[in-house]
Amino acid sequence: MIAIYPGSFDPVTLGHIDIVERGAKLFDKVIVAVLSNPSKKPLFSVDKRIEQITQCTKHIANVEVDSFIGLTVDYAKLHHAGVLLRGLRVLSDFEKELQMAHTNKTLNNEIETVFLATTKEYSFLSSSIVKEIAQFGGVIDHLVSDNVAQDMYQKYHNK
Ligand code: PNS
Repeated sequence: MIAIYPGSFDPVTLGHIDIVERGAKLFDKVIVAVLSNPSKKPLFSVDKRIEQITQCTKHIANVEVDSFIGLTVDYAKLHHAGVLLRGLRVLSDFEKELQMAHTNKTLNNEIETVFLATTKEYSFLSSSIVKEIAQFGGVIDHLVSDNVAQDMYQKYHNK
């Protein structure tokens, strides 16, 4: 079974990588799919995000990294995936995630959403929090991989 792990990943965090690592043990292949959303102004380009995720997941054999535009279920069908993988951190994630899962089920009944509980130590972590800390010069080395931390310091502080 192929699983798609869709998201913005702007930037990818250690919480995301934890989900990819654990998902890769459950499924034959995990495709990390970066949403290219023209109506959002991301910190990193889609190509940069793909490069960052590829670097962070190079130790996992059955992972691919790609981008997509449009509906996640259409992308999943195109790639013969039966599962959408998502991480659940805290109760407040649940409402949005359930809405997305139900919406996706109405769009394609063949594709299931599977949630993995985020590992406890990353349950507070989000891409927005990482951006906020980095912007004000805080330490993010324990929240993102080395390559992403480097990219963030460069982006915000030109170091
Ligand atoms: O990491 P994010 O930003 O929470 O990911 C959200 C994402 C990309 C999974 C979601 O916005 C999405 O699937 N967008 C593609 C459009 C789509 O399929 N919409 C219908 C389901 S709500």
